[in-house]
Amino acid sequence: MNPLLDPHTYASVRKPLLEAETLPPACYRDADFYRREVERIFTTGWVMVSRADQLPAKGDYLTVDYAEVRLIVMRDLAGALRAFANSCRHRGARLLDGRGNCRAIVCPYHAWTYALDGALKGAAGMEETLGFRKEDYGLVEARVETWGGFVFVSVAPAGPGLADWLGDLPDALAMYRLEDMITTRRVEYDVACNWKVWVENFMEGYHIPTVHRASISRQKAVNLPLETKRGEYQMIREVHDGSRGLLDGDAGFPPIPTVVGEEGRGSRFILIYPATMLAICNDTMWSFECHPLGPERTEVVLTSCFPRDVTARADFAELLPEDNDISEKQQLGLATMLARPGRLSPKERIVHKLDNWVLDRVLAA
Ligand code: FES
Ligand SMILES: [Fe+2]
Repeated sequence: MNPLLDPHTYASVRKPLLEAETLPPACYRDADFYRREVERIFTTGWVMVSRADQLPAKGDYLTVDYAEVRLIVMRDLAGALRAFANSCRHRGARLLDGRGNCRAIVCPYHAWTYALDGALKGAAGMEETLGFRKEDYGLVEARVETWGGFVFVSVAPAGPGLADWLGDLPDALAMYRLEDMITTRRVEYDVACNWKVWVENFMEGYHIPTVHRASISRQKAVNLPLETKRGEYQMIREVHDGSRGLLDGDAGFPPIPTVVGEEGRGSRFILIYPATMLAICNDTMWSFECHPLGPERTEVVLTSCFPRDVTARADFAELLPEDNDISEKQQLGLATMLARPGRLSPKERIVHKLDNWVLDRVLAA
């Protein structure tokens, strides 16, 4: 048995934060460990794939690839969001790439044609095939649900709905009115690192004085980890003046009117397990979708959102290359045969939580 799939390997990772070791470096590279993550994490839980306002019109679609999932997310003729396997029911060809608008999905191989609800409508040349009925060969569908203007998908046929997954997070964030924000930009990065490397970096502040010394590190902030009462998420609140997303000297936008009082000061950093992150200030919001494309490759999708009545300008995208770069450096270091587990600081609490959340699932009997 691969020792990475044996619970005894992780006695030191399972200890409390300040006694614990980090995950063995091979957990960020190993094919068996990654396969367990695909099977038990990315194909059982909910994964953010877009903002709903990125698909405003009937026939608008985008394709999303993560773990071993390949989906078309589409707005159908009734205006509902649907998700279909990006795989033709004839002989499996990938149907669509990128994003766009279409009236029907036409396979590039033999032109089988599907309606926007996934039903197979055209299959010319199949008339003599015995017992072939088009209604049996619609696109395979995945679950889609939305919250706060975000689109989530799950390829698990059953299991918790999105509301159960998020728990009390929607209540905790209600004052930000995320559903009223508009998306001003979506940027995709292809990063040569394991998905956990990127998520761990995003959720710890220990690296800020070094990696971001020229940018946000000049802001003074107090870090308050918040206990999750219910739901598959972790949240950190940073108390500071102004908006975290902007650099010193920028005045920012007018704060969201419902974000007031002590609760509304500063910003929040949220990890929705497994790999969706939000950064929310009192005037702006960013989402970060980590889509694993292999043990050592991750697509990171950054979406910037603002209240409806302001226009986008300087924002988080300027920091992201710093995090992408350090994540690739970490991956290179983890890939050394002589790499060994390390230790954690109090500022790496969510690193420890994520790693143990992953182990709970990867190692479950
Ligand atoms: S594979 Fe799609 S029509 Fe043949
Ligand atoms: Fe960072």
